[in-house]
Amino acid sequence: MLGGHLLHGGDYNPEQWLDCPEILEEDIRLMKEAGVNCVTLGVFSWAVLEPEEGVYDFDWLEEIIDNLGDAGIQVILATPSGAMPHWMTQKYPEVMQVRADGRRNLPGKRHNFCYTSPVMQEKTRAVDEALSRRFGRKENVILWHLSNELAGNFGDGACHCSLCQSAFREWLKEKYGTLDALNHAWWGRFWSHVYTDWEQIHSPAPHGETTVTGLELDWRRFVTDQISDFCGMERRAVAKHSDLPATTNFMDTFKNIDYNRLQKELDVVSWDNYPFWHKEKDEVPVAVQSAFNHSMMRAMKKKPFLLMESAPSVINWRNNNPVKRPGMHMLSSMQAVAHGSDSVQYFQWRKGRGSYEKFHGAVLDHKNRSDTRTFREVAEVGKRLPGLEKILDGTVNRPEAAVIFDWANWWAVEDTTGPRLDLDYPKYVMEHYRAFWEQGIEADIVDMDADLSGYRLVSAPLNYMYKAGWPEKVRAFVESGGTFVTTFFSGMADETDLCFTGQHPLEDVLGIVQEEIDAPSQEFENQFAYNGTEYPARRMCEIDHAKEGTEVLSSYERDFYAGCPVVTHNTFGKGAAYYLAAESDTEFLRAFYRDVFGSTGLKNALGTELPYGVTVTKRTCADPALADGAAEKTGYGDVVFVMNFRNEPVCVDGIGKWTDAENGAVCEGKLELEAFQCAVLVEQDK
Ligand code: GAL
Repeated sequence: MLGGHLLHGGDYNPEQWLDCPEILEEDIRLMKEAGVNCVTLGVFSWAVLEPEEGVYDFDWLEEIIDNLGDAGIQVILATPSGAMPHWMTQKYPEVMQVRADGRRNLPGKRHNFCYTSPVMQEKTRAVDEALSRRFGRKENVILWHLSNELAGNFGDGACHCSLCQSAFREWLKEKYGTLDALNHAWWGRFWSHVYTDWEQIHSPAPHGETTVTGLELDWRRFVTDQISDFCGMERRAVAKHSDLPATTNFMDTFKNIDYNRLQKELDVVSWDNYPFWHKEKDEVPVAVQSAFNHSMMRAMKKKPFLLMESAPSVINWRNNNPVKRPGMHMLSSMQAVAHGSDSVQYFQWRKGRGSYEKFHGAVLDHKNRSDTRTFREVAEVGKRLPGLEKILDGTVNRPEAAVIFDWANWWAVEDTTGPRLDLDYPKYVMEHYRAFWEQGIEADIVDMDADLSGYRLVSAPLNYMYKAGWPEKVRAFVESGGTFVTTFFSGMADETDLCFTGQHPLEDVLGIVQEEIDAPSQEFENQFAYNGTEYPARRMCEIDHAKEGTEVLSSYERDFYAGCPVVTHNTFGKGAAYYLAAESDTEFLRAFYRDVFGSTGLKNALGTELPYGVTVTKRTCADPALADGAAEKTGYGDVVFVMNFRNEPVCVDGIGKWTDAENGAVCEGKLELEAFQCAVLVEQDK
């Protein structure tokens, strides 16, 4: 466990209050009161850390780190590249990004520097190394926080300046070797888009190329590499005088950058979670989304991750920003821990007085009081987490199921034109994941590069692109006993978005032959029966044929393709593959996956049917391979989290015998949960 604790605290921006020493003193007193044991410093502090080029002023920071240390509070120290000081943009305009339309940004905002700029790299490296020299071995500094939400500016996250264009061309030369190979991969003879000189290649632009999907894909990959390389440069800079691990804070399923690539530069995965709680009365869709993202972060390194930011109450950037209803703060914090987080950190500790985020929620309000509902609810989390440290140390979730979510597939399936222009890949994958969540079947969210051994079930919805090696991996997985679920519009194109010709790469495994894809308007919706219940087939209806030996579980009932298969099951080797030829609805996915879980022997941690709105996760003793040296286990078994996302009491029946890990109460047969309650259970005899 990093720093020896479940971390509790968040972003702290004392540089906004340096002229108010009484506030800084009060901060530490109140942090203790709130059970804060770790804060993140320096995220956007460049202008104060380096007020003039090459002149560093770190004394104020050292004093704050020391004062925190005296109070037993640990520090995550950020590098400041998340926002550039004005002296820099004034003197070196090349550090400011150029938009896709060719306009260079004016100074301002944040997260908007050119990742290729040698000046930006040099200035960042210099300040990072200076921070490393001064703070890299301080006792209460436990982790480097590189930059902030990389690629997360207000645009597409990319810079299109001439330096980036040249770097892109070099990247392409490295990848393809020859223009002939590139022209083939991008299908250049279509519309006369054959390149005869590398200099003719330009990044996608609204007033230029937007139609060559292979180019779009490679540009996105290049941007991911460029940003990851920048992050790697920062990683090496802070390592100059320090052995501390490093992270950078991710956002959720964020399209601008492939986090599975970026995470390779890091020791620890961390992310910022801002779910839209209370968007509607039914919290399940939001809980599912949040769980999906947590599970993706955990699965990247198969290790505990850190929740780096979350809102203690309200945020300020949605059209309407509901305050967290009583109980939701505890539940959403526990949700992160339940899915593998070793921290609950907030943005932010104290509200600033001015500028863009002055009304973003914080632990401390402008009125500077601890007798507020938000403060009390934060303090409750601060009180609860230490009690869980012992049983959670060295544990992580180890699901036997995986859902594929792959950035390159996302880019490709949404960039491609037809059969629909409104495909929403994350939404679609999350609809499948919802069936897992509702039934308490945990899943890792991984991409096509993941190792599938260790999973019993792998589901790959809307798996349009097959990366090199993927069909072979799936075939081997099924052959050796795994169950694979996939859907319509899968296995269409390779990594450069060239369609497969001849047969589907997994035709033998799936047992179907694809023929046409209908994207019907609402009035032409189709229908099918599954286990005696009728469900809609809509939006995407693939017209397929079952191969000999394939079991057809459902068929279309209307239109000229009535009788063609919608749901099929094919045994292959020791395993099986299911194919869903049409998009349907939540009820169908729920019923379908219930059967799949049954046939693969997957059960939730309580081994019982869960009421609507309740889910369970399990953290289990991790193997010694955990890279951060997991503590030796002390005889505790699995730790099960039971979460009620309904704003009313529920009862979970048929649960066997468990002990409440926090109050020692024995629960047998049933578990009563209050509104928005999370219970933590361990096996009875432990
Ligand atoms: C995050 C960002 C923080 C803060 C927060 C507000 O995306 O990293 O600095 O702006 O959003 O919700």
